[in-house]
Amino acid sequence: MRTLRDINELRSALGEHRLDGQRIALVPTMGNLHEGHLALVAQARQHADIVVASLFVNPMQFGPGEDLDAYPRTFEADHAQLSDAGCDILFAPTVNALYPNGLTAQTKVHVPDVGEGLCGGSRPGHFDGVSTVVSMLFNLVQPDIACFGEKDYQQLAVIRKLVSDLHMPIEIIGVPIVRAEDGLALSSRNGYLNAQERTTAPLLYRTLCSLRDALERGESIEQVLQRGKTTLYDAGFTPDYLELRDTALGPVSAATRQAVLLAAATLGPARLIDNLSVQLPSTTTI
Ligand code: PAF
Repeated sequence: MRTLRDINELRSALGEHRLDGQRIALVPTMGNLHEGHLALVAQARQHADIVVASLFVNPMQFGPGEDLDAYPRTFEADHAQLSDAGCDILFAPTVNALYPNGLTAQTKVHVPDVGEGLCGGSRPGHFDGVSTVVSMLFNLVQPDIACFGEKDYQQLAVIRKLVSDLHMPIEIIGVPIVRAEDGLALSSRNGYLNAQERTTAPLLYRTLCSLRDALERGESIEQVLQRGKTTLYDAGFTPDYLELRDTALGPVSAATRQAVLLAAATLGPARLIDNLSVQLPSTTTI
């Protein structure tokens, strides 16, 4: 695996592969890799000849008071895991290489509608930061495909819209959530949990499963969501949102059959997110 930090080196390395007619996949990451990231690499491997992983803790997607400084930087371990996973190129630019004029002077990409509400509501500017850096990476790597985790359901929707609206010829592949044995969705932020919080954390997933079952039995959406918030509060979470949306993140209507239950909740120092798909019966009360 080649490790490149310089934009020009990346461009010339990829130019050679493109001349050879090879298909290129991109897996954007912020590092501190776990099995969820490795599933993205494995999926990328299946669709392309050359797999590029990027490792960049993107300051633009962190709001004031968020965990930019605390975000775990584990370059050596990440490098070893990517190399073992069969990644061909690791692109790990510095902040100055991507934002040479600083963040305020930087051109930004804003994706309307799907980026609003949910995480976009509680983390103002977050998806502008994601959309900007992902656009930049797409522009630098010019991949044929790019893989993103379904755990960040709204992020995936934002990126699909970005690619469609800007006519980028990139296939976006959503990769299913990878969970620990107890159901907790893998996330770099799980590392912030102490032992007690780590024992409580899978309750987020278990709550979503129980709410999904109730919704699929036709119980009232409002009552089910209210019950879910109470369960989370009682267990020590501070729920940020718990919502049922249609799969395009629009509001659920009487005609919606396929929906998604989305949650974000803080537990100790960690903000956890998760989601689950729900098949609504025609008897559901909206
Ligand atoms: O999902 C992430 O890790 C980040 O939001 C991404 C897509 C790498 C952009 O910084």
